[in-house]
Amino acid sequence: MKILVFRNKEEASQYAANIITNKLREKPDLRLGLATGSTPILLYQDLVNDHVQNQTSWSNVITFNLDEYKGLSAHDVDSYHHFMNEHLFSKININDKNTFFPNAKTDYDDLIKQYGGIDIQILGIGRNGHIAFNEPGASEYSKTRLVDLDQDTIQVNANKFFNGDIKKVPTQAFSMGLKTIMEAKQIILLAFGADKSKAIQTILQAQEYNKDCPATVLIKHPNVLVLVDSEVNLGM
Ligand code: GLP
Repeated sequence: MKILVFRNKEEASQYAANIITNKLREKPDLRLGLATGSTPILLYQDLVNDHVQNQTSWSNVITFNLDEYKGLSAHDVDSYHHFMNEHLFSKININDKNTFFPNAKTDYDDLIKQYGGIDIQILGIGRNGHIAFNEPGASEYSKTRLVDLDQDTIQVNANKFFNGDIKKVPTQAFSMGLKTIMEAKQIILLAFGADKSKAIQTILQAQEYNKDCPATVLIKHPNVLVLVDSEVNLGM
């Protein structure tokens, strides 16, 4: 695991975007794992800017999103489908048929395998250490499945999205499993802001998988890049 500290989230996001666009030029049919939440918004803006300025093509790219709320339709403004359309898909030349989200009907792990696996997986992290919606207690061998959301996650996501209305936040979601995430060839984890400090410190100090902080599973992956801004206290 390699960790890089940036002055701010703008610089960290641009760094991640450069990795992706360089890879896209080398492999136009990139298989990309995507995250939602407030963290990757600047990264998606940078990818859109690159598409506009350099005409980088997304026509052969396949994307796999990490998660989606149960019970929200793709048109719901709070759904992750809608988030991805708004921040990325509607602004690049990706084919809608090449963008996938976990749901009740699809064997997502099998689908990812059919496409040859994920080349680069983008991750954010919850302040409780969750990645995708693998909440504390998740098995490191978990596959894509329906999960119950942590009360803390529901509260945090109500504050950031859902107009602050906690009653609107679904209590369950479909989420890539930790094993699914670990099968990606390369992982880029973005963490911005002081409230991610504890989770990042727990990863850096971990010797083995700690189910109280699911992101600690990443210490076992051979190619993980953690990009943080200077607000994250690494405890060093
Ligand atoms: C959400 C998502 C995660 C995301 C995390 C952090 O609940 N399911 O995929 O990485 O929480 O969110 P944010 O980037 O808004 O801090």
